[in-house]
Amino acid sequence: MKAIQVSEFGEPNVMKFKEVEEPNPAPYEVRVRLLAAGVNPNDAYVRTGTYSFYIPELPYTPGFDGAGVIDAIGEGVKHLKIGDRVFVAALLAKRNTGTYAQKVVCDSDAVHRLPDSISFQEGAALGIPALAAYRALFHRARLRSGETVLIQGASGGVGLLAVQMAKNSGATVIGTASTDEGQALVKASGADHVINHLANDSLDHLLAITNERGLDVIIECLANENLESDLKVIAPYGRIVIVGNRGSLEINPRMAMIKEADILGTALWNAPAHEYKESLHAIGAFLESGVLRPIIGEELGLEDAAKAHIEILNKKARGKTILSIKHES
Ligand SMILES: NC(=O)c1ccc[n+]([C@@H]2O[C@H](COP(=O)([O-])OP(=O)(O)OC[C@H]3O[C@@H](n4cnc5c(N)ncnc54)[C@H](OP(=O)(O)O)[C@@H]3O)[C@@H](O)[C@H]2O)c1
Repeated sequence: MKAIQVSEFGEPNVMKFKEVEEPNPAPYEVRVRLLAAGVNPNDAYVRTGTYSFYIPELPYTPGFDGAGVIDAIGEGVKHLKIGDRVFVAALLAKRNTGTYAQKVVCDSDAVHRLPDSISFQEGAALGIPALAAYRALFHRARLRSGETVLIQGASGGVGLLAVQMAKNSGATVIGTASTDEGQALVKASGADHVINHLANDSLDHLLAITNERGLDVIIECLANENLESDLKVIAPYGRIVIVGNRGSLEINPRMAMIKEADILGTALWNAPAHEYKESLHAIGAFLESGVLRPIIGEELGLEDAAKAHIEILNKKARGKTILSIKHES
């Protein structure tokens, strides 16, 4: 089968589009014939070989997320069958042969039924982004109905799904994006207000929207840029959840004291098993009921994985980046 293979850590060009051996499922594993793979920023971090959460053994095929149809089943798998439409969320799987491939083998627990109303491309956009959004909003921030939440970085894979979930929970939702196209997607996902995180007056705007009270919850996708200003606009007793961070910054911790604000970190890699399972259950229900509808931005071919890694870290977001996967027959 065709797959992306990485034989040395480094820049995006270490990802080679190659013929590799098709993997077979062991007991309690399944094989999925993939039609799409989700591209996540953490795929790019893993590729450098310096990511604090995970360093794979070389050679490896990247990718934790994807969607397709089950084409082989290991012994003992009862809840899935050959032919099922599924999405793969393999971040915490014991075995994951990588979703940047025509086929992936992973634990059957990492594979979930995809409703007919959700395309394979949309299914590949779930996995890490949907689980991270759910965990940040409900397990870490404990968002309640009637609260006001700011999704800081709402136009990307995590942010748009966070907007959809937060809106469904009865919160007032403010989402940020830096382009007109991104802002339109945030609005279409249900945000009550959309602002530009790069605008000089964005803090005044946020305070005006909340009648100067500030935000109960902030889901922060770029903490090294925004944590100091988040502390200026968080409400008393508010919660800031750091989902994304790419550097350091200096803050005055007194700002957190004055408001008794909580600064909470989250990393899906650390999710306790029972919370991870509960998140998947909730995501399944959100899909069935139409609450969640992933929005695809960039759709590239499997052979364009290197381009996808460059774009995911550098280009303005307009939904989720995925790789479409073709098969000869
Ligand atoms: N903690 C976890 O478990 C976990 C899980 C998944 C992802 N993450 C991290 O969360 C972040 C978002 O992931 P993603 O998959 O949504 O990435 P993505 O699709 O590339 O989206 C990036 C988002 O960040 C926004 N952004 C860019 N500059 C910003 C700024 N100065 N202030 C606020 N937002 C800004 C982008 O908005 P514009 O392009 O419109 O400017 C876009 O909405 C990444 O850093 C990723 O590594 C963490």
